[in-house]
Amino acid sequence: MSDKVFSIAIDGPAGAGKSTIAKALARELDAMYLDTGAMYRAIGLDLSRNGLDLSDAASVAAAVGNVDIDVRYEDGTQHIYLGNEDVSRAIREPEVSMAASAVSAVPEVRERMVALQRKIAEGQNVVMDGRDIGTKVLPNATLKVYLTASAEERARRRCLELKEKGMEEPFDKVLQEMIQRDYQDTHRAASPLCQAEDAKLVDTSDLTLEASVEAIRALALEAIQARS
Ligand code: DC
Repeated sequence: MSDKVFSIAIDGPAGAGKSTIAKALARELDAMYLDTGAMYRAIGLDLSRNGLDLSDAASVAAAVGNVDIDVRYEDGTQHIYLGNEDVSRAIREPEVSMAASAVSAVPEVRERMVALQRKIAEGQNVVMDGRDIGTKVLPNATLKVYLTASAEERARRRCLELKEKGMEEPFDKVLQEMIQRDYQDTHRAASPLCQAEDAKLVDTSDLTLEASVEAIRALALEAIQARS
């Protein structure tokens, strides 16, 4: 293999399995994993704790520079800090999903996050997941994947994930929120979620987790080997 670094960009809507698959892939390829959604979640959490109206883009833009956000790796696992507080669990609360989606529509938030994401990944083999990784953060990624699944399947998976974390929610509520969040994420003006022209589409609706990881690992190995 070449000694050049590789980067794998995985984008797609909520609940498509991006983080589970990206994490497994990073482990297998001995690469760093960066969950960029966690960063928008931390901004949303911080600003909503401070009582900001997240639909007011000007206030969000003015406040984002003051958020003391840090991404740290502890035993190979990504943790997100706000000041000295590890918020890695708090950002998974269901209401933080909508807060993250709202703040992520604000260009000043995106500028700060994209710069931080590029800095963290610089010079390393990386698997990054999010909404704009292939289109904006890593336009020259070695491999770009657009991961999707039906809304019902994604909501079913999200319900299971929340249950495992002791944060159970009704299926219909999860489905409705997911549809609304996808709408917001695909219709915002700044870097909306979309499939990059050169991304491979992988629909995991009928795939097990293992089969999804296997499919993407095959694409990744092929792309890594094909590098000039
Ligand atoms: O991946 P997630 O569900 O944790 O992301 C939470 C929100 O953050 C999502 O609704 C949109 C936003 N996001 C984004 O705009 N760009 C990214 N690269 C990652 C997430």
